Amino acid sequence: MNHSFFFTTFSPIVNLFIATFFLLAKKTSCTDPQFLACDPKSCGDQKISFPFHIQNAQEEYCGYPGFAISCNEKNKTVLSLSNNEYIIQEIDYQSQSLRVSNAAAFGKNTSCAPQIQNISLNEDIFRLPTARTGVFLFYNCNSTLLENDSKLLEHKVDCFGGNGNVSTLAMLDDDPLLGSASEKCGAGVVAPVDVYRGENVSIGKMLERGFAMDWVASNCSECEESGGRCGFNITTYHFRCFCPDRPHGRLCKSGEYFFSS
Ligand SMILES: *[C@@H]1O[C@H](CO)[C@@H](O)[C@H](O)[C@H]1NC(C)=O
Ligand SMILES: *[C@@H]1O[C@H](CO)[C@@H](O)[C@H](O)[C@H]1NC(C)=O
Ligand SMILES: *[C@@H]1O[C@H](CO)[C@@H](O)[C@H](O)[C@H]1NC(C)=O
Ligand SMILES: *[C@@H]1O[C@H](CO)[C@@H](O)[C@H](O)[C@H]1NC(C)=O
Ligand SMILES: *[C@@H]1O[C@H](CO)[C@@H](O)[C@H](O)[C@H]1NC(C)=O
Ligand SMILES: *[C@@H]1O[C@H](CO)[C@@H](O)[C@H](O)[C@H]1NC(C)=O
Ligand SMILES: *[C@@H]1O[C@H](CO)[C@@H](O)[C@H](O)[C@H]1NC(C)=O
Ligand SMILES: *[C@@H]1O[C@H](CO)[C@@H](O)[C@H](O)[C@H]1NC(C)=O
Ligand SMILES: *[C@@H]1O[C@H](CO)[C@@H](O)[C@H](O)[C@H]1NC(C)=O
Repeated sequence: MNHSFFFTTFSPIVNLFIATFFLLAKKTSCTDPQFLACDPKSCGDQKISFPFHIQNAQEEYCGYPGFAISCNEKNKTVLSLSNNEYIIQEIDYQSQSLRVSNAAAFGKNTSCAPQIQNISLNEDIFRLPTARTGVFLFYNCNSTLLENDSKLLEHKVDCFGGNGNVSTLAMLDDDPLLGSASEKCGAGVVAPVDVYRGENVSIGKMLERGFAMDWVASNCSECEESGGRCGFNITTYHFRCFCPDRPHGRLCKSGEYFFSS
């Protein structure tokens, strides 16, 4: 009597416990190391995940080639592009865009080194919107040639280098004085900026605010929504979706691993 009572009533429950125990044990003991390694990190209040990876803090395979960034001592995310450092102000993973500003724009040091240089982007990865305003910076203006030119002198900036003999001018790229400035100053450099209609902000503020650009990399959302973490295999040059069980090609297949669904 008791025998059959136990078997019919408790056995299934006991079995369920054993099954659950095994599944949980499997889940905790065999979690894929690459999945664990690609846990999003933060730098300041910014979440850093694919396609970005923080050098020396995250494995290279957690990011996409060309998206290595660093987190500086002030907890600012820094992206190096063509000899200049850019501070990443905002990352929008949804629209695959980011806003950056040249780190030199923040230098209140009179030497303002390193100076802003022409941006040259790897167009396969980062793209500026086509209708783009730029700030022209002329670092090598002959102060003697400027001294009687009151219009050009209005564009003189104190930061960004210069001494008694050499001055720096800054103006927007549609300024009618551009030609006359390059005559007296030689070649300038262009820093992209975002200008909004009707606003009245200084060029220094514009440089600090920076500019938006889009990035091109594998779209991570499908993998992420399936519970995975995106990555990239440099050897095979293919996108990977690191899932708790193992790396997959595109996304973590549902039902294959999770028993609750
Ligand atoms: C940067 O972030 C780390 C970790 O959150 C924190 O320990 C450190 O104090 C922060 N540093 C600054 C300058 O805010
Ligand atoms: C990425 O894919 C998701 C859905 O698969 C889509 O909603 C999103 O717009 C895509 N993002 C970009 C930048 O194409
Ligand atoms: C200004 O920059 C120079 C060279 O980059 C550096 O030697 C100096 O210490 C800086 N001064 C200040 C006040 O930051
Ligand atoms: C600036 O221009 C003046 C007049 O052309 C010239 O005499 C002087 O050497 C120039 N100075 C510099 C630093 O190039
Ligand atoms: C600027 O004006 C002063 C006074 O008129 C004149 O002496 C000087 O030569 C001018 N400088 C240049 C570079 O034209
Ligand atoms: C400006 O030029 C003069 C003459 O060329 C020179 O003696 C002087 O040292 C220069 N000043 C600076 C700050 O470079
Ligand atoms: C920077 O780019 C501008 C515009 O493309 C060009 O006129 C200028 O010569 C470049 N400057 C340097 C130093 O390459
Ligand atoms: C822009 O702002 C400056 C000071 O912030 C002010 O002097 C100037 O009149 C303003 N210009 C316009 C067109 O509003
Ligand atoms: C990349 O793929 C190769 C070949 O499949 C594999 O041997 C290697 O471990 C992979 N690397 C990473 C970081 O996943």
